[in-house]
Order: sequence, then C-alpha cells, then structure tokens
Amino acid sequence: MDQQLTQLRTDALAEIAAAADEAAVEAARIKYLGRSGGLTAISEGMKSLSKDDKPRIGKLLNETRNAVTAALDERKAALAANADAAAFAGIDATLPGIAPHTGSLHPITQLQDRAIQIFRRMGFALADGPDIETEWHCFDALNTPADHPARNEQDTFYMPDGRLLRTHTSTIQIRTMEKCAPPIRIIAPGAAYRRDEVDATHLAQFNQMEGLYVAAGVSVADLKGTLEFFFRELFGPDAQFRFRPHFFPFTEPSFEVDIKTRALGSSDRWLEIAGCGMVDPAVFESINAQRGDTAFDPEKFTGFAFGFGLDRLAMIMSGTPDIRAFTENDQRFLAQF
Ligand code: DAH
Repeated sequence: MDQQLTQLRTDALAEIAAAADEAAVEAARIKYLGRSGGLTAISEGMKSLSKDDKPRIGKLLNETRNAVTAALDERKAALAANADAAAFAGIDATLPGIAPHTGSLHPITQLQDRAIQIFRRMGFALADGPDIETEWHCFDALNTPADHPARNEQDTFYMPDGRLLRTHTSTIQIRTMEKCAPPIRIIAPGAAYRRDEVDATHLAQFNQMEGLYVAAGVSVADLKGTLEFFFRELFGPDAQFRFRPHFFPFTEPSFEVDIKTRALGSSDRWLEIAGCGMVDPAVFESINAQRGDTAFDPEKFTGFAFGFGLDRLAMIMSGTPDIRAFTENDQRFLAQF
C-alpha cells in the first residue's frame, strides 16, 4: 500500500501540473480524490491491514490527500492568475487615467448661495414669488404711479392679459407682507425682466436679490449695519461704503450704496452696488388695504428694504467686462469659477 500511495501521489501531481484549464483540474480531482477515485479505492484496503500498519498507512493516506488537495488549489489559482494576466496584456495599468469631466455650479448660483449664507447668519429667511406678476404687485403696491416711466410698454414685458414679467424682485416684499405679519425678515433671490437692449452691461433677463426687514423700531442704522456687514463679508474687511441719497417710489428716505475696496483692483473708484431705503408708509397702507386689517400699522412698525443685481455684482467681483459672458454658457469662461 505504501507503494500504491506513492505512485498515486506522483501520478496525481504530474497530471495536475499538466492540467491546461479548470476542467482538467476538476477531472484530476475526481480521478484521484472523488468518491470512486484512486485514493478511495486504496483506503478501502485499510480494513485488511494489521494493527501495527494501520496508523502508519493512515497517516500516509492523509498526507497524500493533503498534498493532492494543495496541488489542485495551487493549480487552480495559477490558471486564474494567468487568465487575469492575459486580459491585461498590452495594457499599461500605471498610465494615468482619463479624468471624468465634472461640471460645477454657475458663478451666479455660487454668488447667490454665498449671499444667502451670509444673510442667514443675520436671521433672514428665504422668500419667493412668481416671475409673471400683476401690475399691482410690481407697481401699484410699491407706490409706483400709473404714469411712472418703469411702467411704460418700452420698459416692461406685458402679457396679453395685462400681467407682466416682474421688472424687479421687490414684488416679493409685497407677496410676503400679504401673507405674514411683522416681524418680517426675508431675502428673495430671483430673476427680473426688462425690455432692455442687450449689451455689455444690460440683459433682458437678469438676477436680483431683495431684502425686507419690518419690525418695531427698525432704523436707517439697522439698514446701514446690515448692508455693510453683508458687503464686507463678500469683499473683505477693508471695504468702504457710501450711502448716497436717491429716489425709489417705495422707500423714503432712499439710498444707493457705493463701495470702494482693494478687492476690486483699483481701490480709488466708487462703484454702485445696491438700492435701499426705509419702507414708505404708503406701501404699508396699500398692504393693509389689501389685507383688510392694520397688521402693518405705520405708527407701530418701520422697515428697511434693499435690492441688488447679482449679475452686476458677479461682474464687479470677477472683473468681467461683459455681462453677456454669464449667459452664453461658454465652458472656457465658466470653468474659471
Ligand atoms: N427694485 C429696485 C430696482 O430694481 C432696487 C431696490 C431699490 C430694491 C430700493 C429695494 C429698495 O428694495 O429699497 O432697481
């Protein structure tokens, strides 16, 4: 039996080493280790062995089975490795890959998100309103009389039914005050539309951000503090501001805000960046009339409002001379942000 086992081991290892594929390995396993295989047949002879021989032959039997099993596993692994190597033939896995093309947020969206984050820190909530508006929300409620030039057909896109594309996001002040009572503290980013000839500084559709704060005792100091904080966060701590008297129908007093900062390259020029003012009591009165209550009693509440153009701000901040660059979707321009 010694000899039989030695022979089987020699034959099996040779056959396994020569197995060209997994099927041949499996065939060898069945032939030598299978239920009716060679090793099973030899072990059958154990019964007739003497007591002295049994342990020794038993041990040899186990060793043979282990050796054949190990050879089978090894050959299988080697065949699999060969298959992998063949699949990679001619491929240099150390070459750098082709980076997937990833997009990014549009620069105006990025700026809008930043602005929202800054105002959020001061407790401003987000408000919204429709792009297609009534004349009342866009003009009348904002104390803008019927003969105001902004209402001219040349300046505004009117629908056949008399509604219009909002010319500013100030409509959202009105929408918010219709629904909510003071205290109100909101910002409202959104598109605005005007019948402007499109050129380097004008678009027929552009982006604004509106702000409104109504509560007891709100003052011009709050307005100045809020806008200065906001623009310093955007432009850096060295930014200087100038609040220039101006006129808007819906605020009194009204201002335009100018900024001067090193962040904009030439630090000796004032640039206009926002309109703002204290909500005109006439606006509160028209809201009260619409609501049918006195929620916005001008004797109890005051408020400030502001609005600025995100496109214009993005132009100033990035030194982009032509506003159309933001709408033309040229990857070479947009990829810089
Ligand atoms: N709506 C104005 C515009 O489009 C900007 C503006 C000015 C908004 C003053 C305001 C404000 O809320 O108080 O030119």
